[in-house]
Amino acid sequence: MTKQIRLNAFDMNCIGHIQHGMWTHPRDRSTTYNTLEYWQNLARTAERGLFDGIFLADIVGVYDVYKDSPAASIVNTVQIPVNDPMLLVPAMAAVTKHIGFGVTSNLTYEPPYLFARRASTLDHLTGGRFGWNIVTGYLDSAARGMGLAAQLDHDTRYDIADEYMDVVYKLWEGSWEDDAVLRDRANRIFADPTKIHRVQHFGRHYQVDAIHLAEPSPQRTPVLYQAGSSTRGREFAATHAECVFVNGQDKAGTSAVVSDIRRRAAAHGRDPADIVVFLGRTVVVGRTRKEAEEKYQEYHRHASIEGGLAHFSSSMGIDLSRYELDEPIRYEKNNANNSAVEAITTLSREPWTLRRIIGQMGLGSRNASIVGSADEVADELIAWVEETGIDGFNLSRIVTPESLEDFIHLVVPVLQDRGVYKREYASGPLRQKLFGHARLPETHPAAGHRHPSLQTRQSAAE
Ligand SMILES: Cc1cc2nc3c(=O)[nH]c(=O)nc-3n(C[C@H](O)[C@H](O)[C@H](O)COP(=O)(O)O)c2cc1C
Repeated sequence: MTKQIRLNAFDMNCIGHIQHGMWTHPRDRSTTYNTLEYWQNLARTAERGLFDGIFLADIVGVYDVYKDSPAASIVNTVQIPVNDPMLLVPAMAAVTKHIGFGVTSNLTYEPPYLFARRASTLDHLTGGRFGWNIVTGYLDSAARGMGLAAQLDHDTRYDIADEYMDVVYKLWEGSWEDDAVLRDRANRIFADPTKIHRVQHFGRHYQVDAIHLAEPSPQRTPVLYQAGSSTRGREFAATHAECVFVNGQDKAGTSAVVSDIRRRAAAHGRDPADIVVFLGRTVVVGRTRKEAEEKYQEYHRHASIEGGLAHFSSSMGIDLSRYELDEPIRYEKNNANNSAVEAITTLSREPWTLRRIIGQMGLGSRNASIVGSADEVADELIAWVEETGIDGFNLSRIVTPESLEDFIHLVVPVLQDRGVYKREYASGPLRQKLFGHARLPETHPAAGHRHPSLQTRQSAAE
């Protein structure tokens, strides 16, 4: 039997996320993204479908590489306007019990001391359902907004991120012992100062001399997501990530990335099963194949190719408007998303051209969709899991909330009948549900930053 498939609803606190132009569809509700009701409905719907999580992307900066201007992004609302994703979490948690929240936060622009407190706060308020998608950004426009001329070099950003992780691990795992908080009213002692330790980190990029501001939250370190898959990105994922988000259009390429990440994790002494890999996918499902194809055509009439090109140009740091239709896209080493550039240049068997990219942009994104009846969609999803070693999918929205509702109504029951999808949630915090333990295992680098008393206790319990 195939392993249980994991599902995240992939979304973003903006109107045009991945499938550009869909906001013009009459049934699409994404323009109400700036209301609590919109997000609370999404959370309730995804929980009804027993989704493991809502995965929220985020971007700091605007997509302005295409034609050297943000105009195409602004006109087509390509991830602009974009609101803060973190603030959605308590609102969605308030109307749900089980679903997790994997939320993107760019570490380049926020000191670890403050970020660690925000993450702990969200882990408390959600009862241990918080996850962090660790990103370092890929836009020069963000750097300019933050007072820099351009963003840092691609690999240097990962080196800085490694140090950032050390700091937040120390704050989350090493500062407060589990029994530091007494809440002892009779003796008038809230917490025992001897069990709260000052983090002293004096590194190349960060200096912290402080105790963590928050008391230990259910998971301490939130569930760690990562989504960069260049060679350096995979090494970072293998070191830190518990959930890895990959994009892949063909099974062989995806399978190679997945086994490379797991191999690297094992080389770091981690159990490769402690990494869950989600593949980005878009699904158009109908009661019959014909109905799905008609729906696809109907959505397709609203797609924005220009929006898709504006998005892709900034992801790659390559202005696609400079290419002739049949000119092969050339590999360029820049500081944007290297894995996106590699996917259509050095790693692709056939050369990619603008014509080929546009030809694939059926729904305003370069990612091809799975279109079919519920059985056909289930077959395809199961085949991807079996043939590539992934664990599940980040399902991106098309016409919202319709596409998620269709999936839950039509595909989820088929996956359940095939025995590859849960019929109820497991109990406990997000990490417990995904991996069977609420706190990070001893083999994870965060564990090395635990206070010695905690390390002994944890190993005794194992
Ligand atoms: C599937 C996927 C999703 C991503 N989501 C985000 C995101 O929400 N915000 C962000 O700033 N970067 C995001 N990134 C960018 C990565 O975090 C990373 O910065 C970028 O891919 C460059 O690293 P790489 O060359 O190792 O892939 C994403 C990347 C991938 C592949």
